[in-house]
Amino acid sequence: MSNSEVFRKFAEYVSPGKVAMYKAIGIDFIPGKSKGCWIQDKYSDTKVINLRSSGGVFNLGHSPPQTRSALIEALDEGIDMGDHMLISEHRANLAEKLASILPGDIQYSVFGVSGGEAVDLAIKLARGYTSRKKIVSLVGGYHGHTGFAIGTGDSVFKAPFGDFEDYVQIPIEDLEAAEKEIDDKTAAFIMETIQATAGVIIPSRKYLREIRRICDEKGVVFIIDEVQAGLGRTGRMWAIEEWDIIPDIMVMGKGMSGGVYPLSVTSFRPHLQTFFDENPFVHISTAGGSDLACKVASKMLDVTVDLLPQVNERGRQFADGLALLKEGSAGLITEIRQRGLFIGIEFLTTELCHAFMSLCLKRGALALYANNRPSTLIVMPPLIISKEEVEFVLDVFTESLRDLSKLGKS
Ligand SMILES: Cc1ncc(COP(=O)(O)O)c(C=O)c1O
Repeated sequence: MSNSEVFRKFAEYVSPGKVAMYKAIGIDFIPGKSKGCWIQDKYSDTKVINLRSSGGVFNLGHSPPQTRSALIEALDEGIDMGDHMLISEHRANLAEKLASILPGDIQYSVFGVSGGEAVDLAIKLARGYTSRKKIVSLVGGYHGHTGFAIGTGDSVFKAPFGDFEDYVQIPIEDLEAAEKEIDDKTAAFIMETIQATAGVIIPSRKYLREIRRICDEKGVVFIIDEVQAGLGRTGRMWAIEEWDIIPDIMVMGKGMSGGVYPLSVTSFRPHLQTFFDENPFVHISTAGGSDLACKVASKMLDVTVDLLPQVNERGRQFADGLALLKEGSAGLITEIRQRGLFIGIEFLTTELCHAFMSLCLKRGALALYANNRPSTLIVMPPLIISKEEVEFVLDVFTESLRDLSKLGKS
C-alpha cells in the first residue's frame, strides 16, 4: 500500500468528507509505528511531533512502554475484558486508587468506554438524584457526541438531532446568567475545568467559587469534566485542584486509556450513591471498566503522578519561549493562555492561525486549531515531552512565525 492508496480506500469506505478536509489542511501522512511524542508516517520517512495528543489519549506518548507492558502482562496472566455484571477485583482496585487521589470526598467510580458515555452517566445521575431535568452548560464547551452529552454542546453539533429543550448554555464568567439559569429546576451545571474546544479558556477563581455557591444554594449537581484537563495535563493531577473546590461529579476519559485500552470514569461524592440504592443496575456498560482497561489505567495513574514535576518544568520552558514568540510577533499573536502543557495560542485572525498551523506542519509539528474558536491554536504535547523536543517545537514556531510575517507583507 501507499499513502495515496490508503487515502483512496478511506475516502471510499470510511469518509470522503474527512479525506477532503485532511488534504485541505495538508495532513498527508498515515500514522504508522509511532513512538513517544512522534507520529511516524507508515509509508515514508516523514515524522511529525504530536502537539495534540488526541486531547490527552497520548499523555504518556505513543505506544508507552509502561502501559503496553501492563496490558501484555495482564493478557499473559489470563485477564480478559471481564464480565460487567459480576464483581471485579480490578475495577474495585482502580476505583479505590482513584478515590485516594480525587479531590475531597469523591469516592465512587462508575466506568465507561468514552468520555461522552461518562458525561451521559453524570447527567443521568444528576437527573435521577434531583428528579429535575434542566442542564446548564457553557457556550463553546464540549462534552461529547453521545445521547445526553450532545445536548450540552454548541448547536452546530446538535441542531440536526432534536430540540434539546431542557438544555441551556450560558457564557463563561457571566455570573448574572449563572444566577438566572442555575435555578431550582436545574439538575446539573456542567463545565470543563479548562475549556479545550472553546480555545483553552481558563476560568477565574471568582467564577468557579461563585458557581459552587450557586449550585449549593439551589441544590444543583456540579459536574466538572476533566476529560482533557485532567490527568497531569496542567501540572497538577487534576486541573480543578488549582481552584480548590470540590465538584459533586468528575468525569475523566481519553488519558485513562494509557494510550492503549479505552476507559472513561464518572466519579462522584457519597450522597449521589443513594440514586443507585433502588436499582444498582440502572446503568450498565458491557465494555466499560473492562478488567484489561483497569490494569492499564492503574499503571497510567502511577506513571502520571511521577511525571508531574517534569510537566511543570516543560510548561515553564514553553511559557518562556512563547512569551518571546508573542513579543516578536508584531501583534499577530494576541494572547497565550496556558496551564502546564495545556496551551492556547491566540492569533489576531482565524486566517493567521490556520496559516501558522500549516507552516508548522510542513516543518514537522502537528497542532490543530480549536474547533469552537478557530483563531486559537491548541498545543497539547504528550506529558513526556523532553527539553530538546520543546526546543524543537519552539524553533518550529519561531521559523513559522517568520514566514507568516513575510506572507503578510507580500
Ligand atoms: C472535554 C471533553 N469531554 C468529553 C469528550 C467526549 O469524549 P469521547 O470522544 O471519548 O466521547 C471530549 C472529547 O473530545 C472532550 O474533549
